[in-house]
Amino acid sequence: MSVTIKSQEEIELMREAGKILATTHEELAKAIKPGMSTYQINKIGEEIIRSYGCIPSFLNYEGYPASICVSVNDEVVHGIPRKDCIVVEGDIVSLDAGVIYKGYQSDAARTIAVGEISDEAKKLIEVTKQSFFEGIKFAKEGYHLHDISNAIGDYCESFGYGVVRDLVGHGIGKKLHEDPQIPNFRQKRRGIKLQAGMTLAIEPMVNMGTYEVDWLDDDWTVVTDDGSLSAHYENTVLITKGEPEILSL
Ligand code: MF3
Ligand code: CO
Repeated sequence: MSVTIKSQEEIELMREAGKILATTHEELAKAIKPGMSTYQINKIGEEIIRSYGCIPSFLNYEGYPASICVSVNDEVVHGIPRKDCIVVEGDIVSLDAGVIYKGYQSDAARTIAVGEISDEAKKLIEVTKQSFFEGIKFAKEGYHLHDISNAIGDYCESFGYGVVRDLVGHGIGKKLHEDPQIPNFRQKRRGIKLQAGMTLAIEPMVNMGTYEVDWLDDDWTVVTDDGSLSAHYENTVLITKGEPEILSL
């Protein structure tokens, strides 16, 4: 395993990529209305990314056919945008996007509500987001990687939710997926020591029911095994000697 440490120049470019991605998520969330197809959502997202002079990193990544992963309700991640998939009031939609700015990547995801949603769904989204913040309390020099995993997993499980185990967060930089892998549930070992200059995409995926997931026949879309709702929250984070810097917020 080789975890890259970024230079000041590289960090500056990743900051810029992160800012653009944060803005992309804000603009995209505002644009989503009941009755839209996930295909339209992807198109709007891609246009926003390109309007800032960035490249959508997911497009054609290992054959993934779109710029934004749009995952509705029991779809966990990597939903493929489709003209015949229409979002309606009450749905929750996970939006995962990546941008490349001057050769450097940022990766972030949000789950948003379409119109009014149930209190249960609101809580799932809120807990998933908060689990990220529980995790990054340990995202600094002096802690180990799995301190983050344990904090995320224990927090989510205290609400009875299932934390997805088959997919993990990851290092990020020139490449979308770098070492290390970052699980979102309690680990038996401590994992690597965190060091200033590491950049990590930390991304809890949390199900209302079982943590078990399955893949649809498109070989991309991940769904919950029991059909329960799922939420996703992700940011690109810079490890420092002090508080972590969340690059994509
Ligand atoms: N955030 C996602 C991940 O880290 C990126 C989607 S990969 C793509 O797995 F293939 F869909 F682009
Ligand atoms: Co990611």
